[in-house]
Amino acid sequence: MMRIMPGAMLGVVGGGQLGRMFAQAAQQMGYLVTVLDPAVDSPAGRIANDFICEDYADQAALEKLGSQCAAITTEFENIPADSLRKLAHSCRVSPDADSIAIAQNRILEKQFLVNSGFAVVSFAIIEQHEDIFTQDIAHFLPGIVKVSQFGYDGKGQKSVADQAQLIAAYAQLGHPVCVLEKFMPLKCEISVVVARGGDGDISIFPVSENQHVNGILDISIVPARIPQQLAQQAQTIACQVVERLNYQGVLCVEFFVLKDNELLINEIAPRPHNSGHFSINACITSQFEQQVRTLCGLPLGETAQHSAAVMVNLLGDLWQHGEPNWNLVLRHPAAKLHLYGKAEARPGRKMGHFTVLNASVDVALQQAIHIKKQLEH
Ligand SMILES: Nc1ncnc2c1ncn2[C@@H]1O[C@H](COP(=O)(O)OP(=O)(O)O)[C@@H](O)[C@H]1O
Ligand SMILES: [Mg+2]
Repeated sequence: MMRIMPGAMLGVVGGGQLGRMFAQAAQQMGYLVTVLDPAVDSPAGRIANDFICEDYADQAALEKLGSQCAAITTEFENIPADSLRKLAHSCRVSPDADSIAIAQNRILEKQFLVNSGFAVVSFAIIEQHEDIFTQDIAHFLPGIVKVSQFGYDGKGQKSVADQAQLIAAYAQLGHPVCVLEKFMPLKCEISVVVARGGDGDISIFPVSENQHVNGILDISIVPARIPQQLAQQAQTIACQVVERLNYQGVLCVEFFVLKDNELLINEIAPRPHNSGHFSINACITSQFEQQVRTLCGLPLGETAQHSAAVMVNLLGDLWQHGEPNWNLVLRHPAAKLHLYGKAEARPGRKMGHFTVLNASVDVALQQAIHIKKQLEH
């Protein structure tokens, strides 16, 4: 695969925090970055060398992006796969449109996983109101009904205890195509970020243990406090997923761990992941640098973790009484503050994160929780 060397212009479709951290990693290595995002003010757009403020399907914008970039990546899955197909006519695009098309649709994603032999939560497809009555719905209750497209951070999904609640929830969601997943009693949740280069070389990050609040990631603990064999199994599955997709780029596999240590794939994200942010401070190579390396056909970086790490998300709720007191994070000698430069703090909005490093994961967790509580005070 041809190498794209520093100095070249790279493109990223999407201007959120993941695009920003990609741009930072790319710029650190001497690349230039163009961002495409419809919002006037976006975290990545703010720091990009060039910013195209247009819709993801705008033909002129795609032409400009494709003509001025040597390679293009994405930072979120909800972009039209056709836009990526168009871009692929003028330059390298990774991940490719087919992988994005699968990952952006829960039904295609689950069908891909099941057909490939991976274990997932048992689910039913609800395409219309009648489907609630024509299948053995009781088998999937209590459950969680999730819209098949455009859901994120727990949005577009509702817990339902019985059929009556399912009917109400489905109406509230507006009768879109959905999946109904059986509600699983979870021992914990883990995720694995994996990178695959153009030559098929794979590198894998340590396993994160993830705690969610209201469907949004709250804390990631790395390494996950699970048996080593289970961690290895998750990493093996993640490698199999990228190979099966013939994927190029960085991808995250989210898993449910059941009581008996059975692993189910929850979902896949075709990009760096919130649960992989620890890698910026705790690994030799971050997930974003790895994204640059896969995109440019460079050798993949070493992903070994040099320090245990706990990452805490900073949501907009923290801004209720004004700007949080960052000194509470900064005064800790091994806490690293990351803010995404978002002007408006809305509840549930990801504004930043901090990562606490320590030789012991238990100590890092205690310290991170202590800082988090102080911030919330
Ligand atoms: N079937 C399920 N059983 C138990 N918990 C679930 C189930 N589906 C989702 N959850 C919880 O909700 C969170 C968000 O769900 P997910 O499908 O990953 O949506 P999103 O795309 O918003 O991340 C999960 O990380 C998990 O904590
Ligand atoms: Mg998820």
